[in-house]
Amino acid sequence: MILVTGGAGFIGANFVLDWVEATGEPVLNLDALTYAGNLENLASLKDDPRHVFVHGDIADRALLDRLLADHRPRAVVNFAAESHVDRSIHGPGAFIKTNVEGTFTLLEAVRAHWLALDAAARASFRFLHVSTDEVYGSLGPGDPPFRETHPYEPNSPYSASKAASDHLVRAWHHTYGLPVLTTNCSNNYGPYHFPEKLIPLMIVNALAGKPLPVYGDGMQVRDWLYVKDHCSAIRTVLERGQPGQTYNVGGWNEKPNIEIVRSICALLDEMRPDPAGPYARLVKHVTDRPGHDRRYAIDASRIERELGWRPAETFETGIRKTVRWYLDHPDWVARVQSGAYRDWVDTNYAGRSTA
Ligand code: NAD
Ligand code: TYD
Repeated sequence: MILVTGGAGFIGANFVLDWVEATGEPVLNLDALTYAGNLENLASLKDDPRHVFVHGDIADRALLDRLLADHRPRAVVNFAAESHVDRSIHGPGAFIKTNVEGTFTLLEAVRAHWLALDAAARASFRFLHVSTDEVYGSLGPGDPPFRETHPYEPNSPYSASKAASDHLVRAWHHTYGLPVLTTNCSNNYGPYHFPEKLIPLMIVNALAGKPLPVYGDGMQVRDWLYVKDHCSAIRTVLERGQPGQTYNVGGWNEKPNIEIVRSICALLDEMRPDPAGPYARLVKHVTDRPGHDRRYAIDASRIERELGWRPAETFETGIRKTVRWYLDHPDWVARVQSGAYRDWVDTNYAGRSTA
């Protein structure tokens, strides 16, 4: 079996569902169920013995020691993190706690577990750390996309905390020989995405007839990957990646934010027309994010060349599936938009003036 941390969040839940379907191998899922964790994402595995859920924190060493001793996983995949840049600007402390201290505690517990394995199990054991392209900083318009050798230049409290965790993972390999793998992926989108991030926020706001808040000029560029393609990349790296190596994962799909918002509006105009007029009427340019990175782009040629992975979805196919999913799951959307969600919307958007 494998241990997945953060498996009730957006990517983690997609990964757990995908893993059980693709491999049938049991998953032990450790998640602290912060605002971003939602067991409803895993409802289809409720009575499935291949999914065991444990409510707990990756910074809890005693819990980790017990879980590792009881379940003896052959691999650990670490998704658990605070993941939202805007929240990291309003409150960086939780990001240091989970992303830095939590990863440190997890690495130490996993190292002790790994050292106690017999030689064969120790050789095949893997610790896969799920990271982001944001650790590389911001690109100029004509710069080549990030390769794995790009210097780390994180600019937000979120990306700095992820960079710190990547460095710890690297050092645990270099110093202790722990067989680690790191993936640095671009922006994901797809089912179960919490509506604080750009794509799900735009879909749910448009459907509610609310403004679509585009930061600054909307010309910031991100690379977008359909979440199921990220899951297949992680499975590939876990199976065939070389310990100590890092792999950039991306969709070959750079787009400015305003273009993403316009595509969502156009799809909604087609799939759920609003009698009040085209959804693009709701676009509002608002005060920019402080320190906003202008452009991320991923060169995903190493993972293709060395491991044979390429994304299956284009942006056009992936975004259509995503909009369809949100249209088909109004109850999920309603339930995640709890009181705490409304508090966040006030914190992040009330102070932004419109341009
Ligand atoms: P998310 O915020 O949706 O989910 C994070 C999950 O981790 C939640 O279920 C939460 O409850 C859990 N968690 C938080 N703190 C914890 C702790 N201390 N102990 C145990 N569980 C804890 O995040 P996501 O978008 O699914 O991202 C997952 C991982 O992928 C993160 O490490 C993130 O940095 C990375 N990543 C995300 C993206 C993206 O576009 N979302 C892109 C590249 C990399
Ligand atoms: P986000 O989904 O928060 O991901 P990240 O900051 O990790 O890339 O944001 C994606 C882009 O969309 C980013 O450039 C910020 C921008 N954005 C908006 O313009 N408006 C919004 O309301 C949000 C949440 C993001």
